[in-house]
Amino acid sequence: MIAPLRDVHIVGTGSYTPDRVLTNADLERIVDTSDEWITSRTGIKERRISDPGTPSSALATEAARRALDAAGLTGADLDQIIVGTVTGDRTFPSTACILQDRLGADRAHAFDISAACAGFVYGLSVGKSSIESGMATTVLVVGVESLSKIVNWTDRNTCVLFGDAAGAVVLRSTGEPGGILATRLHSDGTLVHLLEMPAGGSLMPPSHETVDKRLHTIHMSGNDVFKHAVRAMESVAVEALGAAGRTPDDLSLLIPHQANYRIIDATARRLGLPMEKVFVNLDKYGNTSSASIPLALDEARRGGRIQKGDLVEMVTFGGGFTWAAAVVEW
Ligand code: ACO
Repeated sequence: MIAPLRDVHIVGTGSYTPDRVLTNADLERIVDTSDEWITSRTGIKERRISDPGTPSSALATEAARRALDAAGLTGADLDQIIVGTVTGDRTFPSTACILQDRLGADRAHAFDISAACAGFVYGLSVGKSSIESGMATTVLVVGVESLSKIVNWTDRNTCVLFGDAAGAVVLRSTGEPGGILATRLHSDGTLVHLLEMPAGGSLMPPSHETVDKRLHTIHMSGNDVFKHAVRAMESVAVEALGAAGRTPDDLSLLIPHQANYRIIDATARRLGLPMEKVFVNLDKYGNTSSASIPLALDEARRGGRIQKGDLVEMVTFGGGFTWAAAVVEW
């Protein structure tokens, strides 16, 4: 007989954002834009920007410590550390290994996941499987980005959208019903060119030319991303709910990737969800890629928007393309 899989619960959440605020008014002084354009096209009012000497691992460490505190655990309790990021401290070693050292997590194995804005939900799915299989007992999943460091600050099409942040959760089996009921992950590698950082890897190693052409920054076809994001987020949200034996009507709260208010609104409409059941904080932080969902989750939980027994779904879309959803009974 096959033993039932272990339950996997989110037993602690934490997040961290840098103190420095960059408002739309500040951006008006940098590029040809306006608060009116940014607000009406994206819903973003301000974003957080880390200091020049602060790497992603520093943001991740703060968020992870807060999640561990919330769970009543320390780094020494961790078996596995997963970091979703596209702006790690270095190409290698992984930011997860740096975080392991900062947290004193001597027993843990640690690795990064590169899935752009879907990095955190991908990590959640891998962490869940690790606990279910008995490979790990206590898992830390982090989403962290320092997107301000890979933004072209002369390109108004992109620089108004992004910010820096970190969010983290601790996963464990509690023996109680519920927890992470289902996750679903997707990719479409035919669309890599629609959202990318062209240079810096083995395809186009750093050179004076790549720096002069600003190829170490985010390049995006905004309209194409928009269309794909709405369709994909709706379909994976329904798919993951189906895998959990639920429908959108059962949801207490949807936590979508915080990229653009219009994408969130269109996704909610397609799912038949009123906006009261949708968590939005992108006005304060902009798009923080893999940090966006764990940051929103932590704010929702600390703000009393998630109660025991609630059905919560996280849904995301990002470069790759990658898209994913996770359904959690709290
Ligand atoms: N300020 C003023 N005008 C601007 C700005 C700006 N910051 N940026 C672009 N414009 C102009 C354009 O130049 C264009 O002018 P034109 O008509 O004279 O050529 C006009 O505004 C309209 O541009 P569009 O790109 O058509 O504007 P759109 O309504 O599509 O909004 C946006 C652009 C906000 C990027 C939107 O397409 C979007 O949100 N796409 C999703 C992409 C996204 O969220 N990416 C984040 C990373 S991916 C992820 O996280 C999932």
